[in-house]
Amino acid sequence: MAPVIASKFDHIPYAGIRKVFQKANELEAQGQKVVHFEIGRPDFDTPAHIKEAVKVALDQGHVHYAPNNGIPALRTALAMRLQVDKGLNYDADNEIMVTAGGQEALYLTFLALLNAGDEVIIPDLCFGPFALGIILAGGVPVRVPLQPENNYAYDLAAAKQAVSPRTKAIIVNSPHNPTGSVLTKEQLAAVADFAITHDLLLISDEAYDKMLYENSYISPAGLPEMKERTIVCGTLSKTFAMTGWRVGYIAAPAAVVGAAVRAQQNVMLSLCTFAQHGAVAALTESQACVTAMMQEFARRRKLVLEMIRQIPGLELPGIPQGAFYAFPRITLPRVTSAQVADYLLNDAGVAVVDGLAFGEGGNGHFRISYAVSYEDCRLGLERIAAVMSDFQKKYG
Ligand SMILES: Cc1ncc(COP(=O)(O)O)c(C=O)c1O
Repeated sequence: MAPVIASKFDHIPYAGIRKVFQKANELEAQGQKVVHFEIGRPDFDTPAHIKEAVKVALDQGHVHYAPNNGIPALRTALAMRLQVDKGLNYDADNEIMVTAGGQEALYLTFLALLNAGDEVIIPDLCFGPFALGIILAGGVPVRVPLQPENNYAYDLAAAKQAVSPRTKAIIVNSPHNPTGSVLTKEQLAAVADFAITHDLLLISDEAYDKMLYENSYISPAGLPEMKERTIVCGTLSKTFAMTGWRVGYIAAPAAVVGAAVRAQQNVMLSLCTFAQHGAVAALTESQACVTAMMQEFARRRKLVLEMIRQIPGLELPGIPQGAFYAFPRITLPRVTSAQVADYLLNDAGVAVVDGLAFGEGGNGHFRISYAVSYEDCRLGLERIAAVMSDFQKKYG
């Protein structure tokens, strides 16, 4: 029989993070206490007023298909937040659409932009679906290294080498998964200049736009001449502890949104209607819940960074200033990150993600997501400290 599965799936493995999560759950089912440092999912419940809005929407009968680009009230609420929070002006009717989370926002963007074989520059260290979504959409991801010593900004000299006649776009993700780094305005402006010089579109993944500990958010779409060439992909998942709701958005020039809506008409059709009503409440009512969650993340971050800095055999390049990630590097030359990640999970009950899951630049690192309770942060780091001191005695 001829091959059943399309050959592009040769390059699309099951997600590594999911495998760790599954194994961690198996260990838990056997009665072990596992610290879940592996998943990027806030542990908070979705705030009550957002859930209430959905109950009302259900009672009011909002159970039918929604418009393909999202309900008008949600697009208006997104336009308002983009204006108030980021100083960006988008037309709610033509330049904004609702998507199934930030991940579908990225995928629809790739579908809208890419002809077969078109290339997109992505950071090496990045969220897995950047590369795999591009491949699914028929494009070619081109990885460009980041500079740990420079806030994990792009190495723009390497990016220049990577540009070809097929390069269509470059992706920026600040605050960054997996390192938690945040680009300065100057660093964002340098990528924007790069995009203008090489006539590229800039895809800005703003999944962690509310999760900054030291500065306020800057979107590259707000830099001079950038609105017309930037596609903002955002989400309510992390900000409002709504990962399971699947509500995200694209804000972009009308032609891009128009193509993404036509893609959506043939993929999801429309997003869950009553979830969209909950999202309106999230965006338009008091933002105090976001402040409260961020205060707790800040408390955990302080503990996590302090503890990591004291662990033998680990160092923390750069200072994670956003999201809820830390990306320590193992300084023992004979120990690999795969070895440490495996040992931590199977022998110490701490699930982390091997840095290699995010690209070659992650070799020798692992990612800690501190979206777990303060107590679990402490317990997890104590366990990591014990394992690393054993490794140091054995291999140091
Ligand atoms: C960098 C980045 N972008 C986008 C997403 C997508 O999030 P969601 O699809 O839940 O909105 C994530 C989720 O982990 C992420 O880390």
